[in-house]
Amino acid sequence: MSSSTPWTVDHIGIAVPDIDAAIALYASTAGTAVTLREKLVDRGVELAFLNTGGTKLELLMPLKDDSAIARFLAKRGPGLHHVCYKVDDIRAEMARLERLGAKLIDTTPRPGASGTLIAFLEPSSFSGVLTELCEYTDS
Ligand code: CO
Repeated sequence: MSSSTPWTVDHIGIAVPDIDAAIALYASTAGTAVTLREKLVDRGVELAFLNTGGTKLELLMPLKDDSAIARFLAKRGPGLHHVCYKVDDIRAEMARLERLGAKLIDTTPRPGASGTLIAFLEPSSFSGVLTELCEYTDS
């Protein structure tokens, strides 16, 4: 029971303590530019999406000490936080993954950046990597 089409890597999430420094680093090294920057105050995180020639990068910086990103940084330091795959039908994929026994963090999709629906999946179900699914709903 496989997915009909392979998932496409949409972006790679990187946890950083200083988003301005990381934006400047990737601009000078990888030649990226910010395409979207957003503070999600309720989730305690500031995001910046960077355009590479292909898969996007998402920088994530904590806005408060009790946020999930702050706990991640305190425990593991800066680095790879999650991989996000773009899917055509997020609800169908989540149902299929549940049937396969994968553990879902979000049991229903929620709004993400740029008119997406997103859901996170447990790292233990994906080779130790926190995994995000996204569906673009307005294109
Ligand atoms: Co993401």
